[in-house]
Amino acid sequence: MLATAIQTYQQRVDHQLTERFSALAETAPQLKAAMTHGALLGGKRIRPFLVYSVGQMLGVALEKLDACAAAIECIHAYSLIHDDLPAMDDDDLRRGQPTVHIAFDEATAILAGDALQTLAFEIVTETVPGISCEQHLAMVRVLAKASGYRGMCGGQALDLASTNKQIDLDALTKLHNLKTGALISCAVELALIAANAPKDHYDTMMEFAHAIGLAFQVQDDILDIIATTEELGKPQGSDAESNKSTFPQLLGLDGAKHTAAQLIQEALSALAKLPYNSQLIADFARYIIERRI
Ligand code: IPE
Ligand code: IPE
Ligand code: MG
Ligand code: MG
Ligand code: MG
Repeated sequence: MLATAIQTYQQRVDHQLTERFSALAETAPQLKAAMTHGALLGGKRIRPFLVYSVGQMLGVALEKLDACAAAIECIHAYSLIHDDLPAMDDDDLRRGQPTVHIAFDEATAILAGDALQTLAFEIVTETVPGISCEQHLAMVRVLAKASGYRGMCGGQALDLASTNKQIDLDALTKLHNLKTGALISCAVELALIAANAPKDHYDTMMEFAHAIGLAFQVQDDILDIIATTEELGKPQGSDAESNKSTFPQLLGLDGAKHTAAQLIQEALSALAKLPYNSQLIADFARYIIERRI
């Protein structure tokens, strides 16, 4: 059931993205090709999955979730394009393809990231029947916050500042919560806003989101060591080669695995407090630490 749902939502968001990319005029064909390369060639689409699956759990029609799902994936794709740049992680493989600055050039990769970021905000403000202006405003606010200084960009800055350095567990947790947790939490939050979820359910779902967001990056750190480049579609060992601060580097592989498992238990406990059918989302939480890609 989980595998089918992942595939269904993956196809759905790919269709949403393809439609919006096709609608862009050929004003700057190389930039458009780079944006397409960075956003449409593969990817698990786990943030759109969360938008759709949490929204559905709360009774929201998929049509009301499409814009949020496409928007958050645009932000994520932008974050990956910039993350791979020579000035950042300097990686040449992503989703089994050459990274955008390799397939094109650095300037185009920078612009592709910039343009995907702003496209996300165009998309999230599209008129959707049944979504009010207040809801749209809240969606823009959470997406902006999760993407910027108080979210992904802030975390990426901490990541760079913590390279070639020993940092403690609190600092590493903060770094991971920001660089990766923020956008994952945002995916859940966009669905909560679309659903007009009651405050107590909202808060409990955000506890869940926070725990899986951190677990997702801890598992990403683990996979950098235990998976192969072929499985990952990105260079295995990139963290060690760059001397990054990661959970396995700080706690050892077993310590990192233990932390990830504990976080998923916390996430499942939060879900269990809610009166919804959360089977699919619980399975997804377990998948986060079982995945090999
Ligand atoms: C990779 O994200 C970068 C992190 C934030 C850990 P994903 O593992 O979601 O990458 P794709 O989208 O599936 O390629
Ligand atoms: C993800 O961290 C950070 C982003 C916000 C894109 P990583 O640098 O570990 O992601 P991968 O391993 O390159 O996908
Ligand atoms: Mg990085
Ligand atoms: Mg990286
Ligand atoms: Mg990584």
